[in-house]
Amino acid sequence: MVGSSRLSIDDLIQIVSNGGCIKTGIDVYNAKGTLLLDRDYLVETTKILNVIKDNGVNSITVNSSENSGIWDKDGKHIGLDAGGGLDSDDSINRSKVNEDKVKQEALQEPALSFDPSAGEIEKKLYKIEEIKKTAKVKYAEAKENVKKVLSDIRETGGKFDYTEVENNVSDLVSFLTETDNAFSFLTKELFSYDDYLYNHSVNVCAIGTAILNRFNKHFSNLINDFLRAGNQKALASFSRENDLTTDCFTLFQKDDLSDISLGFFLHDIGKVMVSDTILNKQGKLTYKEFEEVKKHSFEYGTFILEENKLKNSYLKNIIKYHHGPLFEYEERCYPEGVEFNAIPIYVKICKLADIFDAMTSKRCYKEAFNQINVVTDLFRTYAQKNRLLQLILHSFVKSIGIYPPGSIVYLKSGQLAYVLHSEGPILLPFTDSAQITLKKQPDPIDTARRDTNKIYQVDASRSVKTPTDVYDLLPSYLQKVISKTAD
Ligand SMILES: [Fe+2]
Ligand SMILES: [Fe+2]
Repeated sequence: MVGSSRLSIDDLIQIVSNGGCIKTGIDVYNAKGTLLLDRDYLVETTKILNVIKDNGVNSITVNSSENSGIWDKDGKHIGLDAGGGLDSDDSINRSKVNEDKVKQEALQEPALSFDPSAGEIEKKLYKIEEIKKTAKVKYAEAKENVKKVLSDIRETGGKFDYTEVENNVSDLVSFLTETDNAFSFLTKELFSYDDYLYNHSVNVCAIGTAILNRFNKHFSNLINDFLRAGNQKALASFSRENDLTTDCFTLFQKDDLSDISLGFFLHDIGKVMVSDTILNKQGKLTYKEFEEVKKHSFEYGTFILEENKLKNSYLKNIIKYHHGPLFEYEERCYPEGVEFNAIPIYVKICKLADIFDAMTSKRCYKEAFNQINVVTDLFRTYAQKNRLLQLILHSFVKSIGIYPPGSIVYLKSGQLAYVLHSEGPILLPFTDSAQITLKKQPDPIDTARRDTNKIYQVDASRSVKTPTDVYDLLPSYLQKVISKTAD
């Protein structure tokens, strides 16, 4: 007999706890239109029901037919009558008793905002996949370029084609500056680990440029606000209160920014003169070996600049001081005898980008660390030391976008979701909590909103995936976008 009844989640939990199972026959959504339970999913554990309850849904409708409804622990189908309620078992009677209450609760649940056509989302998906493709090309071009620079230096004993690098990097930098939130689109390629030094050069350039742009924008707004108000005094007291040195208020112009990005790109150029045996050594470096590695910055790097008659001070400072101290008494910094205050902001940014990339990259002697843990560590080590570092790190977190658009994340509910926007992040779930592909496209979830249920937050303990990794689980609308934009 076909019928449907609205039942309280608590009663359903009880039934499943007693060994029974449920197939609703009707999709269950939360108030935001996100599918919590597919109509054909057989619920055999209470986990999913608890997730539904955590979503603020206190009752659901269950259809009873041959293929759906409720079965007891012996596999006996328990019928539902159309008037509501079950016809046997203790829990059934409780359901009847609670029916009025449940109906009332159901009425109070907000209306669904589900738009099955969702053409706008589709457009956004195409845009993301196209930018990912461009980012991949830019990255590969820059990587080829750094490969060529290093091999030229090896062959000529120090010379390389500076103008070629300049043109190439300016192309990457334009992409990074002109595309909204561009850096986050590069991350998929950024954290691959072949050819470490080449990747590292491009990564530090991309990360550093993103932070610097963000920082520059932040400070130019701040300074403009003070100046518009004609308030030089306020600016001075703001700097004093925040213990900020005057170089925080350096506004980098477009040409400066390009030179600095180029410096980020070439920061480790001196490593070409350190032997691969030392650079790839699996164990701890000896004192002598570490002394040799140190030279890549203040000795070999500087030598290469001189050989090519490059006098640009941005380039020189980055190459020479990118292992300098960020605060007083910081250890293992070089060259020796440099005051942390004397290290320019853009060099400090280079050092943080350098540490971040080194830690999050896989090497022959170590695994890649989780990006979130690395950012947390950077905050722990540096943010408390001085206000400037704190401001740089805030720009850092805002720019890097831990969850790149177009990547796939796990939610705390166990669902898989496609990242639509790295800020928030804004997510589009496409499976239920048992990782069964949803048949309908739900509304995106903005995880930064206060009223977003915590089960929709990203599960940071699980690694970020690409759509190709989970291709078979993607719903057809996503598969279509991915295959259309594939190479
Ligand atoms: Fe270095
Ligand atoms: Fe480096």
